[in-house]
Amino acid sequence: MNDMDQLVDIENSTQSKKIFLDQDIYEQEQERIFGRCWLFLAHESLIPKAGDFMTTTMGEDPVIVVRQKDGSTKAFINSCTHRGNKVCSAESGNARSFVCNYHGWVFGSDGSLIDVPLNERCYHGTIDKSTHGLPGIRVESYRGFLFGCFDQDAPPLDEFLGDFGWYLDTWMVGAGGGVELIGPAMKSILNCNWKVPAENFVGDAYHVGWTHAAALEVLGGELAGLAGNQADMPYDDLGLQFTTRFGHGFGVIRHAAASIHVKREGYDKFLRDTLPAVAENLGQARADLYDGHWNCTTFPNCSFLYGTNTFKVWHPRGPGQIEVWTYTIVHKDMDEETKKEIVKQAIRSFGTAGTLESDDGDNMTNCTHTNQGRMTRKGRMDATMGIRHEGHHPVYPGIVGSSFIGETSYRGFYRFYKEAMSAESWGDIRAQDNHWDEAWKDNGFWEAKAGKGE
Ligand code: FES
Ligand SMILES: [Fe+2]
Repeated sequence: MNDMDQLVDIENSTQSKKIFLDQDIYEQEQERIFGRCWLFLAHESLIPKAGDFMTTTMGEDPVIVVRQKDGSTKAFINSCTHRGNKVCSAESGNARSFVCNYHGWVFGSDGSLIDVPLNERCYHGTIDKSTHGLPGIRVESYRGFLFGCFDQDAPPLDEFLGDFGWYLDTWMVGAGGGVELIGPAMKSILNCNWKVPAENFVGDAYHVGWTHAAALEVLGGELAGLAGNQADMPYDDLGLQFTTRFGHGFGVIRHAAASIHVKREGYDKFLRDTLPAVAENLGQARADLYDGHWNCTTFPNCSFLYGTNTFKVWHPRGPGQIEVWTYTIVHKDMDEETKKEIVKQAIRSFGTAGTLESDDGDNMTNCTHTNQGRMTRKGRMDATMGIRHEGHHPVYPGIVGSSFIGETSYRGFYRFYKEAMSAESWGDIRAQDNHWDEAWKDNGFWEAKAGKGE
């Protein structure tokens, strides 16, 4: 087993570069992180009718997600229980059953084995169909977002999301109408470790003014002021950063939700019109975040930007490669014109060939593959920005960092990464529930700040 104390130093907020390209560590991640956590599968809006299905992966395991006749959703491993072929090669569609290409075994949309060619004549009744269904996976929905989990001992999805869900409700249900994903997903390969984009989305507002300087200047809007880090801005007043139990985290730039969109009248109007409902339904604390721009990661590999409205899954394909799946998030109640415009703008910025997507790709590839070097991989990554300028907040749950440019949510992400990688089971993880945040305890940062009248 890998020495996690050496690999991830919580106290000093550093990580070994080895965790970004080592095959053994990758295998342990597959077992202990992708084998245990809730992983994003699909949004209910992508498979609305009975028989609608889509295929995806959980870690590297192929999975089929299918809408059932009773409206529920089931998911199965997409591998024939005969000789292992995929039983469904399509990306999505509607089907009553799945017929394996190899020898023709037929599986129902509930995963059960319903027909075996030449069963009587050649198996002579020895195959027990009831024990040869496709292995099922736990599926739960959060506000229409479907997640799957291989581990029967994992907490329910609601609990896994915890305080992070409390925050997500701000724009997922705050205005009343809910959100949906527009697909099909754009798919591309990026030669980087899955944690590099996951940590970038969980908390890297630092790179925005530098990596994306040229794009920001072209796009204009509120974020243009960040370009080149030149402007004298009150960073501590522009936003906040958050981390919650189980490694989820996000940052918010206040009043900047639609800032990346060039044509944004419809979006701005929607936000203005719905803001009072958010305050009424959820209270002022969350309403204050509603029209902000959010960068988020649901641990481990599902990231999104609310405002820019891109929604990504980083599917691992070995330690040095990922498949990136990109959807667009829209509010269900928006008019069709506004939805279409948001999709266009989201593709323009974070689609496969998007301006900001291309800026990020080079950095992510290089942050991974430099670690091939014998000396390089002995080095460490630093994530100390904003350390001690964070803590328990009087209003917001979780741990809150004082600026949206900081690495508070990196610290939360790697804290749980280490915990999950070290634990033998969910039982071990749960044993830490009451003191997961002790690294930040008694810091008193927010009380001190309040005391100073800031
Ligand atoms: S592998 Fe599927 S029917 Fe033989
Ligand atoms: Fe970026």
